[in-house]
Amino acid sequence: MKMNQRLGILTSGGDCPGLNAVIRAVVNHATLTYNWQVFGIPYATQGLLERQMIPLHMHSFDLRGIDPLLSMGGTILGSINKGNTLEEMDDILAGYAALELDALIAIGGDGSLTILSQLAAKGNWQFIGIPKTIDNDVALTERAVGFDTAVNTITDALNRLTFTAASHDRVMVVEVMGRGAGHLALHAGIAGGADVILLPEISYSLHNLCNHLAELRNRWQRRFAIIVVAEGIHAAQDEPISSDQKPTCGRGQYIADGIALCSPYPIDTRVSVLGHIQRGGIPSAFDRLIAAAFGKTAVDLIAKGCSNQMVAWQQGRVVSVPIDQMRELSPCPVDPNGDLVQTARALGIYVGE
Ligand code: F6P
Repeated sequence: MKMNQRLGILTSGGDCPGLNAVIRAVVNHATLTYNWQVFGIPYATQGLLERQMIPLHMHSFDLRGIDPLLSMGGTILGSINKGNTLEEMDDILAGYAALELDALIAIGGDGSLTILSQLAAKGNWQFIGIPKTIDNDVALTERAVGFDTAVNTITDALNRLTFTAASHDRVMVVEVMGRGAGHLALHAGIAGGADVILLPEISYSLHNLCNHLAELRNRWQRRFAIIVVAEGIHAAQDEPISSDQKPTCGRGQYIADGIALCSPYPIDTRVSVLGHIQRGGIPSAFDRLIAAAFGKTAVDLIAKGCSNQMVAWQQGRVVSVPIDQMRELSPCPVDPNGDLVQTARALGIYVGE
């Protein structure tokens, strides 16, 4: 792009901490280095359908000189978490043309980036994607914006629950997000000192889980336990409840009910569903760091004329990868034989099987 070109930016899919920090990085670099105009598209493709955009300037959100974008959760642009109908596709392309943008940067998960890159190919847009999701399941990047903050939030919750669990000899079951992937549960479970971590990627048995709790109690005199349950886990191998009695509750409650049925001794359980608390909050230092690095690199890729690429974090460096490749490999699950699962097991955490 040349001087005075028009760059669009949007956020798509579920929000997470760090989105505003990415927007800030893009606006600052595009303005200072390239003298481009940056426009925010509200509510992702909805904004394109409605031909809406907001001019974004450096420091325009400052409060007494403080830039809130760096530390504010959510997204100032708004986001949507639903797909568009086929009929809407042509209207989105027409909307993009009507806004007279020269290029677009989208911050999204694998689903949003895939759809937008397909639109970009159809409409001949110059397009760069930036990965974000607390689930951290976008392939080809070791980190997506938002994951680190969510891991910290869950770890903090586990710390808090540990003390109340220990005071009452209770088993605390904590259900965490992640959709079909267990990255959040695995990272936060290890960091937060969990005794059990259940993941969608590894099958487990209630019998083995209860044996593990009994061993904690009898061998190590640990009378309480912390169980982290990923929301996407499947039914236990030794499901004690017949399928017509299957609870319609969340997986955390299901595990609490299951161990109460299987345990040879009475267990006092409590369930916490962390829910959207995991999506809120002030972005961590690491999320701000990758937000800055991703935003800067995305702008440079546009300047170089690249398109349909996603910025990615690999071994401490920011690289770019084709969005088509990312799409083929996403969503990226936990490796059941990976270092972190082995680390958890080595530390005496029950991680299934
Ligand atoms: O993909 C991010 C995520 O937070 C998942 O972990 C969770 O299952 C889902 O979004 C919740 O989506 P919604 O905001 O639509 O309830």
